[in-house]
Amino acid sequence: MRRQVKSGAVKRELLQGESTKLLQELHLLTREGNLNADSLRKLKQVNHLVQLLQPAVEDVLERFGDPVVVDCGAGKGYLGFIFYELFLAKAEKGRILAIEGREELVRAARERADRLGFSRMELVHSRLEEAMLPPRLHLVTALHACDTATDDALFLAIRGNADHVAVVPCCQAEVAAQLKERKAAEPPISSLFSHPWHRREFGSHLTNVLRALTLEAHGYSVTVTELTGWEHSLKNELIVGRKVRGSNPAARKELDSLLAATGVQPKLHRLLAG
Ligand SMILES: C[S@@+](CC[C@H](N)C(=O)[O-])C[C@H]1O[C@@H](n2cnc3c(N)ncnc32)[C@H](O)[C@@H]1O
Repeated sequence: MRRQVKSGAVKRELLQGESTKLLQELHLLTREGNLNADSLRKLKQVNHLVQLLQPAVEDVLERFGDPVVVDCGAGKGYLGFIFYELFLAKAEKGRILAIEGREELVRAARERADRLGFSRMELVHSRLEEAMLPPRLHLVTALHACDTATDDALFLAIRGNADHVAVVPCCQAEVAAQLKERKAAEPPISSLFSHPWHRREFGSHLTNVLRALTLEAHGYSVTVTELTGWEHSLKNELIVGRKVRGSNPAARKELDSLLAATGVQPKLHRLLAG
């Protein structure tokens, strides 16, 4: 992994339509115009994700007059800003709502959006659980939304009947803790997670398997791939869903039996049940 990209070579890291001016505004570039190792990693992740999102964006821009994109757990808003510059600015329509729970990040991002004239980018200070959103969403994203915040994002997508959803989960720990209670699982299933290390790994894997199955049960066609090379991020699983039908009873049955066999109740499942 390269440590730094010198200013003269930064252009090679940019996508078509992506400006060094924006990267400067996002403080991804140093004062000298270089990309340091952390910024390079972040840029690689965001650029990969926006590239993968391109067909989904084109789809919603083509089909809807004013598509609503929601970025959950937006942090400093890197994804939203880059997304806006690449897609929404050019399209002259559509808006992005970037939801973030930390007020200081929201304030800074709002000021940045004003400076850039990104008038259809709204920075929403809210917990995802309490966010007031339009009833119908078109594309929902969550890049490294911590632990169950990814469940909140998926819930918002399913509830908002989003046409497309893309999440890159982060440090999913809830299910591992539930496995420890071993409420339902019997051997040999329980042998998959009797050691703490296995419980953490299996819990993390099971969480994302259940998330993918839940999307399928709600009528999404789902693909699970890696976002970038492992050298750019260890939190690298990308779950992408495209709404293709109302529901999928076969996936629902599979989901219910996996929940029963493992005895877990992830937040996404609780939110949808409630
Ligand atoms: C690891 S950061 C990722 C930020 C950004 N998506 C990125 O990739 O640069 C996760 C962000 O989600 C926010 N977050 C976590 N849980 C949240 C919740 N329930 N509601 C709103 N924001 C939340 C955190 O404050 C943090 O800024």
